[in-house]
Amino acid sequence: MSIETLIAHYGKLTETPIQDLFDADPNRAARYSSEGAGLFFDWSKTGLDDQAVDLLLSFADEAKVAAWRDQMFRGSKINLTEDRAVLHTALRAGPETEVHLDGEDVMPGVHDTLARMRDFATRLRSGQIRAPGGGRFRDVVNIGIGGSDLGPAMATQALSPYHDGPRVHFVSNVDGAQIADVLGALNPAETLILVASKTFTTIETMTNATTARDWLLRDVPADVVGLHFAALSSNLEKTGEWGIAAERVFGFEDWVGGRYSMWGPIGLSLMIAIGADRFEQMLGGARAMDAHFQTAEGRANMPLMLALVGFWHRQVCGYTTRAVLPYEQRLARLPAYLQQLEMESNGKRVALDGTMLDLPSGPVVWGEPGTNGQHAFYQLIHQGTDIIPCEFMVGAVGHERDLVHQHQLLVANCLAQSQALMLGRSLSEAREMMHAKGFEGDELERQAAHRVFPGNRPSTTLVYPKLTPETLGAIIALYEHRVFVEGVLLGINSFDQWGVELGKELAVALAPVLRGEASADGLDGSTQSLIERLDQLSDVRS
Ligand code: F6P
Repeated sequence: MSIETLIAHYGKLTETPIQDLFDADPNRAARYSSEGAGLFFDWSKTGLDDQAVDLLLSFADEAKVAAWRDQMFRGSKINLTEDRAVLHTALRAGPETEVHLDGEDVMPGVHDTLARMRDFATRLRSGQIRAPGGGRFRDVVNIGIGGSDLGPAMATQALSPYHDGPRVHFVSNVDGAQIADVLGALNPAETLILVASKTFTTIETMTNATTARDWLLRDVPADVVGLHFAALSSNLEKTGEWGIAAERVFGFEDWVGGRYSMWGPIGLSLMIAIGADRFEQMLGGARAMDAHFQTAEGRANMPLMLALVGFWHRQVCGYTTRAVLPYEQRLARLPAYLQQLEMESNGKRVALDGTMLDLPSGPVVWGEPGTNGQHAFYQLIHQGTDIIPCEFMVGAVGHERDLVHQHQLLVANCLAQSQALMLGRSLSEAREMMHAKGFEGDELERQAAHRVFPGNRPSTTLVYPKLTPETLGAIIALYEHRVFVEGVLLGINSFDQWGVELGKELAVALAPVLRGEASADGLDGSTQSLIERLDQLSDVRS
């Protein structure tokens, strides 16, 4: 089926407000929702009708979503531009699972690494692993960027009620301000550095790791400084060159993409913060979502429906962005995490066969936790000229049992926003409101116009019991699979990221110019003039 068929159907649906769909079907809320792995996903407040859902499901069938899914779980090399399997799901698979890649079961290696992580984290937390000076490691700094930072940083914040280990900090940016601020508050003698880099070549991470080593060397003798480090990497050659002992290296294979890597060694910082048992509960939650994704049929399949709703909004309706709005302060880093997961995966314009896509690539993903966002950008969401599909998420209970009243207020706000987006406020309602306030005539008309909410704006709501490790695992796996399905629908490779390379290469070429070791001649006019201006300003300021 062609995308035009979907677009034509959308054209017909634009006449029908979402609210009318509820009036026509008293069971809409139940029929337009999916449930699994402890989560409930309500997609009834979208403009989809049964025919649209059927068309989308047929589109997914024709794109062979189920076959691609099975190939992914089975270890086929579906990352075609890098000739790699895509097996982050193996990192959380159960003991009974076998996954054969190039004739070998990868699972013993996965379990072995997990057991080593467990052992290291447990001994570190108990104080058995000590700094060479004899003291406990009270602080752990994860140095990594992109997938080697966003997942563990997001999850560590999300699960803060479970922290009972050393304090965990994250440094990602090459901007020295970040590492200076983090290390400035720590004692080198009690600090363990985790260098998290799949490739162990990423310039930001290696620069920060060197800065951390220099900082340690102020207090720690050079011959034992290595005992303040561990590495999370698949490049064992480079970790060796860097002087990190093999037993302090936690490796993973090239079939784990950076942005899909928090389930294995890249999650060590989180494991240190919350303990290995809770980390494994998180894997269990993700595993439950994997099983749901592999077995639930059609509209009952949550990742499939999250993807189809996303595809509908972006590729069929043409909405260019989507907002992710967790009503859960501890998920503050989730939008940033999803930006990498979704935009690095599906921000592409070339199909698998190398031809140009005839569909728009994945949307811009952005967001903030509610209720903060309400006091910032919701104005645009409610009354701006662009339609921004919103993905709300909220827990039934919070961790703060003495603040139940605040949680109730939080939930009320979340539900009120999706209601307001759908129902809006008509001009006649706005007139009535202003009339009741004493306005008349032209002034009433003028004031009322500003108070109209067009409504009929789509949103979805993901509901979960409580933000536990298990719930978090299920939510993240849900989004991973959503991205996967959207990639299949687009016909792209969601697992490479060639679009980040050019800028990296040019930065490497510009660095000597900035250091005054190479000339700016031959660079484009704008870059030359910016370098000149920065030079002048640094002379003035330094
Ligand atoms: O920015 C591109 C990227 O390759 C991401 O995909 C990855 O998560 C990040 O850089 C960090 O890479 P590494 O873990 O190899 O340092």
